[in-house]
Amino acid sequence: MDKTRIAVLVSGGGTNLQALLDAQKSGALSSGRIVLVISNKPGAYALERARLAGVESLTITKRGCGSAEAFEQALLEALEAHGIELVILAGFMSILSADFTRRYDKRILNVHPSLIPSFCGQGFYGLKVHEAALRYGVKVTGATVHYVNEIPDGGQILLQKAVPILPGDTPEILQKRVMEQAEWILLPEAAELVSRRILKEKELEP
Ligand code: GAR
Repeated sequence: MDKTRIAVLVSGGGTNLQALLDAQKSGALSSGRIVLVISNKPGAYALERARLAGVESLTITKRGCGSAEAFEQALLEALEAHGIELVILAGFMSILSADFTRRYDKRILNVHPSLIPSFCGQGFYGLKVHEAALRYGVKVTGATVHYVNEIPDGGQILLQKAVPILPGDTPEILQKRVMEQAEWILLPEAAELVSRRILKEKELEP
């Protein structure tokens, strides 16, 4: 049986994409294959990571498409053209509409750098999440991998891991700890779990 065909959507540095590529190389991600990387930001370093790994990449921007609807249409066309069965949002800083998420029900994963339902939803992304956690004064934060539905950061939770906040933490220090101790571990694990589930579903198809 062919592996689950994965697209990874990115906007920035792509360290989570790198964790997925490394997991593919080591065999930890063996049920799925990353066949496409899409960035909505031209020049994102994640694109260079894709190139170095020999994975095809595309840049699709809202500005270039002219509207949010045309942007999502272009994304859908690219996903369909590549036979994508699982979409992984890895630092993808754009909210997808209900029309889009319905098309890939339980087939879109997102990694979020907090323990959902804390510090999540519209406006909570990247460093802002860690700034909010430090401002609030929580002593434990972490990361969550969840399915994506029409509610920002509101889909079913798959995996979570707690990470301590330590005296002297800055948003940047905390972000790095959460990535190292949680995101880069959870995301490949979830990618393997869901890729395997999709393979099993295909085996059961008549
Ligand atoms: C990661 O911390 C990811 O969890 C977060 O942005 C960073 C991207 O880093 N995503 C969100 O905040 C989405 N709501 P990366 O480009 O190095 O993977």
